[in-house]
Amino acid sequence: MNPITVMTIFGTRPEAIKMCPLVQELDRRDGINSLCCVTAQHREMLDSVLDIFGRKPDFDLDIMQPRQTLSTITSKTILGMDEVLSQVKPDLILVHGDTSTTFAGALAAFYHQIPVGHVEAGLRTYDKWSPFPEEMNRKMVGCIADLHFCPTVANRDNLARENITEGVFLTGNTVIDALQTTVRKDFHFTTDILNDLDYVNRKVILVTCHRRENYGQPMTNIMTALRRVADRFPDVELVYPVHLSPVVQEAAHKHLDGHQRIHLIAPLSVDEMHNLMARCHLVMTDSGGLQEEAPALGKPVLVLRRETERPEAVAAGTVLLAGVEEEDIFSMASTLLSDQAAYNKMAHAVNPYGDGQACRRIVDAILYHFGAAEAAPEDFAP
Ligand code: UD1
Ligand code: UDP
Repeated sequence: MNPITVMTIFGTRPEAIKMCPLVQELDRRDGINSLCCVTAQHREMLDSVLDIFGRKPDFDLDIMQPRQTLSTITSKTILGMDEVLSQVKPDLILVHGDTSTTFAGALAAFYHQIPVGHVEAGLRTYDKWSPFPEEMNRKMVGCIADLHFCPTVANRDNLARENITEGVFLTGNTVIDALQTTVRKDFHFTTDILNDLDYVNRKVILVTCHRRENYGQPMTNIMTALRRVADRFPDVELVYPVHLSPVVQEAAHKHLDGHQRIHLIAPLSVDEMHNLMARCHLVMTDSGGLQEEAPALGKPVLVLRRETERPEAVAAGTVLLAGVEEEDIFSMASTLLSDQAAYNKMAHAVNPYGDGQACRRIVDAILYHFGAAEAAPEDFAP
């Protein structure tokens, strides 16, 4: 049998973190010819991940522009993929999650009549505008895809409600595979401030915030609440690696500059980020990926959003939806910082999102789909 040519397409930091372990698995498995194409919707933040995983892409569309719009990302990706797909015709294209790269990559594959596999399939809020534009991106990819790799049972149920039942595999999330390779007890940070922090006697709060639907007033509310938390609790050190988006940079520096215990730092490499998360006291974030990683490391999370497509860790009690109102965020953070029992109740490790075997299951499912393996992989069971 000829090898199956599988091309992964990704472009942003979170896609890279969740796809690189899968690319590594595809690279090492017999029967697969693995090609990796990046759009570089993110440039520096993508390259940082590629460096850590040591994988050079086979194709690089290099599309990023400062303050890019959704239309430019989408159109540049489709046109760039036209060129790539006129050179090679993969048997399968894999996209990840819900970014503009994901949607445009799947659409380009469809235009070239190439089957699509969707990694991290079936996450939903059922609110078209939140997260924006991610909810529609993942729904549209769900319509295009032939194979759907769902992290959780709830994700598979969501697809079933949309009558998507063929080609669906329950795999767990590849982010947990990634996490298992990065966190080490003896890890030494290259970012000096992270080595200098006293993780035992101080309460280190790890913050990230970047979502488009939080631009404007919600982001102002969030930043104001964060500053109040730092003012109110003298034992808090707030560490915020600020996303490179100029909109986010402006908001973070406007509201949080000039405070002795608020550390606005450059985006961290993924290994630094995971090891900081493993040592911090509390996570406050609007990120999707952090909502999955922090529970696996036993860290309570306050989600700085109105909704979440990741209800599993909320149900498990390690994640709380804090919303985007200043008073709500301040009051929930205050409770966790002053009430040890409330904190302890949330600070226990749960792994509803994966067992570190997602990449192996996804590749097994691909081999099975193409008739190169006799059995489908077993379902992920949390
Ligand atoms: C994108 C995704 C979002 C995901 C996030 C992860 C879309 C529509 N949004 O949002 O789902 O949660 O990535 O971080 O796909 N920039 C740089 N260097 C970089 C990265 C970004 O300078 O390495 C700046 C550029 O000015 C760029 C801007 O950030 O124009 C915004 O990047 P973009 O990918 O459009 O949006 P994100 O908010 O990062
Ligand atoms: N991350 C990182 N460095 C940072 C901030 C985040 O490596 O400075 C990682 C984080 O651990 C997670 C992923 O990036 O794996 C999440 O990306 P992001 O929050 O940008 O996007 P989202 O998950 O919200 O789509």
